Amino acid sequence: MKKDLLSVVDLGRGDVEQLIEQALVMKQGGMRCLLPWRSVALLFEKPSLRTRVSFDLAVTQLGGHCLYLSPQEVGLGQREPVADVARVLSRYVDCIVARVFSHDTLVSLAGSASVSVINALSDLEHPCQALADFLTIREHKGRLQSMRLAYVGDGNNVARSLALLSGMMGVDFVIAAPAGFALDDGTLRRAREMAAVAGSSVTATSDPVEAVRNADVVYTDTWTSMGQEKEAPMRREAFAAYQVNSSLLAHARSDVIFMHCLPAHHGEEVTTEVLNGASSVVFDQAENRLHVQKAALAQILIPAD
Ligand code: CP
Ligand code: NVA
Repeated sequence: MKKDLLSVVDLGRGDVEQLIEQALVMKQGGMRCLLPWRSVALLFEKPSLRTRVSFDLAVTQLGGHCLYLSPQEVGLGQREPVADVARVLSRYVDCIVARVFSHDTLVSLAGSASVSVINALSDLEHPCQALADFLTIREHKGRLQSMRLAYVGDGNNVARSLALLSGMMGVDFVIAAPAGFALDDGTLRRAREMAAVAGSSVTATSDPVEAVRNADVVYTDTWTSMGQEKEAPMRREAFAAYQVNSSLLAHARSDVIFMHCLPAHHGEEVTTEVLNGASSVVFDQAENRLHVQKAALAQILIPAD
């Protein structure tokens, strides 16, 4: 049966542990050419730098090749119904990597495609980013257990995947968001259920200092995600007290690492000083997209014995 990766919860804890170990091996140059002649469609409704480049290179380095399909070319759901696009692409390629506005579009794609569908970012989740982030934490801290990850900012797609993956992997997760921009209750409930099994905690506050206190990892993302551009002025005001700057970071542990999925808006959610500072691992995160996606493609597309 085909495997899809729409949410981090499509994976189990063992899958994620294996992915991270394989990504580390691949980063050292191991396990090449696992997907000879496989074809992957990159079906994107939104712009991208990291996701597009890292998936293209991941597939190429595994011996396959990618086709990039821009919004103008396909007109997903407009020029042609989503289900028909899924069925047509399934006749050509081995996997569809899709970046969409609505998560429902991904669910329809996966429901109609006979090949695997991977979420390259939707309004709900960004699972490949969270996996790369956990690889980055593992590399810098040597472990995931007993880590405190403080996310400061919008309860968005990136925050949702991080909360769920933290719950699954036993990382203590805390989010500080202003009223009206918190993570939804369903995600918090699901993340807490998993955290109860893994022995960690998932909490929410509106106080960024409280969240960051004693944190091993401080993470932020844009205040205005793709598709919300009209709300940017209102969001700048709502999030003004949530900037990650050196005085906020001073409340974290002295060996804290700063993380951001990028693209960053210097002087908004993070200062240039923090982004370029000694604690920042943001470009390691960007690089790790490549390694973790190679491991994910292998896990999803190579049938288990
Ligand atoms: N972090 C991330 O997904 O970047 P892109 O939007 O450039 O792909
Ligand atoms: N939350 C951001 C992430 C960009 C990688 C967005 O959806 O635009």
